[in-house]
Amino acid sequence: MLVRTAKGTKDIRSLWMEKGVVKAIDQRLLPNQFKIVSIRTVKEMADAISDMTIRGAPSIGAAGAYGMALAWQRKQDLTKASVTLVKTRPTAHDLSYAVNLMLERCDEDLVREADAYADRIVNMCKRIGENGAKLIKNGSRILTHCNAGALATVDFGTALAPIRVAHRDGKDVFVYVDETRPRLQGAKLTAWELLNEGIDHAIISDNAAGHYMKDSVDLVIVGADRIAKNGDFANKIGTYTKAVLAKENWVPFYVAAPISTFDPSTGTGKGIVIEERSEDEVLCVGDFRVAPKGSRALNPCFDVTPAKYVTGFVTEKGILKPNDISSFAKSP
Ligand code: MRU
Repeated sequence: MLVRTAKGTKDIRSLWMEKGVVKAIDQRLLPNQFKIVSIRTVKEMADAISDMTIRGAPSIGAAGAYGMALAWQRKQDLTKASVTLVKTRPTAHDLSYAVNLMLERCDEDLVREADAYADRIVNMCKRIGENGAKLIKNGSRILTHCNAGALATVDFGTALAPIRVAHRDGKDVFVYVDETRPRLQGAKLTAWELLNEGIDHAIISDNAAGHYMKDSVDLVIVGADRIAKNGDFANKIGTYTKAVLAKENWVPFYVAAPISTFDPSTGTGKGIVIEERSEDEVLCVGDFRVAPKGSRALNPCFDVTPAKYVTGFVTEKGILKPNDISSFAKSP
């Protein structure tokens, strides 16, 4: 991804491994501060995934793979490392997919395997971009939720990949960026990525999506954290609301995700575990408490959208219908 800082423009990934140490953009600090953190142990990697230094389903998949490489380098117990890593965030399927893949290949050089895994994700995202760009016409106005860009996927993105390709092909596109309370991944991260790429956009409050969906949005594209065999899928809290609004307003609703997000062991959305995070994320904006002392909050991090709301899944294999999912979902 292109990153513009005071020191110039560079093209980097959201995480990578260098001389035995994992390097990652600290996503908690963006857009105000651009900082690369170093991760040296499985414990540090588990913390970086839990506290959302690294976030987004395919990125935490790569983080899991690199966590296993860190354990392998130190000749630590790989099964123990896998348990520590997988329990950090329960909803994203890519995490257990990548960690199990590394366990299966434990006789190989896991640093090389983790690097290859990250490269594969980036290539899949590029293909998602090419396949999804066909849906975008010149002048399209697209709504997206959360951040499913390069930060969330090592590079390029899932939901943002078709938008990047359409923009690079010279199409005029405009993106409505849901701010995505409570962690503000849209306002902080998606807007930052679009700005870096010079893609026209505006941040809207989550509550404004219906207003714009009525007559200004041509297409919705979101990412996914886990896709069940029947096509129900989990994504950032608020996605379900957007899907219902899209159907009501005859706006096509697409989910962009690699096949590694398809979960062959989950039949329907009912089987998807939804992560609950700290109520402070809702009671406060940043470090400032906005709710009265004494009030409590509920904070489900994801919701499940039923397959019937999905126009299509944009994958590296093409655009699939919910009915096609079961034949593509496979274990590592
Ligand atoms: O809690 P997060 O920020 O990790 O949630 C991320 C999302 O919900 C993304 O939309 C999803 O992981 C798809 S990322 C390509």
